[in-house]
Amino acid sequence: MPTTDPLDRLFPDHVATLAATTDQALGAAGFDAVVIGAGFAHYRFLDDSADPFTANPHFKAWAPILNAPGSFIVYVPGRRPTLCFHQPEDYWHKPPASPSGDWLKSFDLKLLRNPAQARAHVPPRAAYLGEPFAGSEDWGFAAVNPPALLSRLHWARGAKSPYELACLRRAARSGARAHRAALTAFRAGASEYEIHLAYLEASGHTEAELPYSNIIALNEGAAILHYTDLGREHPLARRSFLIDAGAQFRGYACDITRTHAAAASPFQDLVASVDALELRLCEMVRPGVAYPEIHFAAHRFVAELLVEHALVTCTADAAVATGLTSVFFPHGVGHLLGLQVHDVGGHQADEAGGSAPPPAGHPYLRLTRRLEPGMVVTIEPGVYFIDLLLDRAKQDGRGQDINWDTVADLAPYGGVRIEDDVVALAEGPENLTRDAFAATAD
Ligand code: GLY
Ligand code: MN
Ligand code: MN
Repeated sequence: MPTTDPLDRLFPDHVATLAATTDQALGAAGFDAVVIGAGFAHYRFLDDSADPFTANPHFKAWAPILNAPGSFIVYVPGRRPTLCFHQPEDYWHKPPASPSGDWLKSFDLKLLRNPAQARAHVPPRAAYLGEPFAGSEDWGFAAVNPPALLSRLHWARGAKSPYELACLRRAARSGARAHRAALTAFRAGASEYEIHLAYLEASGHTEAELPYSNIIALNEGAAILHYTDLGREHPLARRSFLIDAGAQFRGYACDITRTHAAAASPFQDLVASVDALELRLCEMVRPGVAYPEIHFAAHRFVAELLVEHALVTCTADAAVATGLTSVFFPHGVGHLLGLQVHDVGGHQADEAGGSAPPPAGHPYLRLTRRLEPGMVVTIEPGVYFIDLLLDRAKQDGRGQDINWDTVADLAPYGGVRIEDDVVALAEGPENLTRDAFAATAD
């Protein structure tokens, strides 16, 4: 039967690209093969239950299986990769299902009853990538997580293959559908916890399958950047709703934030302004652009917004120059996205592992690289009313340029963040998130 899922047609090329990258990286780092461990189950202290399993992203890059504790991939340049899949004999737990699907045609499959059986498949002069494990010193690895190999693979993971982009599009659609369900729940008066449940149901994910813990905040909670409390109460006054929540498809994540006002208000106007500002930034996601330029543009745009909404009394230029914008927008404008929600390699200067740290005064910028075709980044500007930072501004003198009356009016709404996932392409940015919302509209 000919395959009909476009992903299945794209997967062999993805594996070929990964193999070519790995061949080069192994050659440069001085190894003849690589063994990639998926990871292991972790039992809690003094307990017989395990934390949810999270597969090594290097493992997921090769094989789209997420539940694979004790499994390995063995790759020798010029040969088909071998998937050593751990399927224990266990009558207490359901063993991971045998791998199946068109993608499996790209692998030789070996079933393991015990992870140690993978030892027989370790080739000479192989580097091991993954979580270190007891006894691995007897497996004959030439090195464990050698930086020279990791840095090259991390660098290459920045630009996604067509297969990976297809996975990211599907993740974005799951996320968009779930965001709609969450908004419906908010409008119906649900608590943060109930909104979370509505999100899970619509995304089809368990909590452990989410790429990161849902940030679902009503009112002032929106001022806490990573607010994950999931309050059970139903506040009498429902002013604002910020949701930063993702989904995943075959291990590839989306990372989406929306902020909603309960009613027409100056806060709703602020949300609209941040949304417009965010779209301007998304337009900048193009090959050749140094990502910090987008971050600096975000500060300029936020400064203009602060003037427009009468949050500051100085000029936009002054708000940037004094760092006042960082009081209201204290995080980076975004990051690489892929197999991890904060994908690796954002601070690399080159494939050999040189470091490109964030610019002075912007310690939380997670990406300092120049964009390449196929790179996927988030764009997530925000404007928040954070007591800690406002108090600091009061103390260090920047507060004299803040319009405290407007801040007092808007602080009960917490803050605004709008976040989209965008692909840098020569023909122009592809906004995975906006496309997904459009495709899933009723
Ligand atoms: N959801 C985490 C982030 O936006 O980076
Ligand atoms: Mn993000
Ligand atoms: Mn996010």
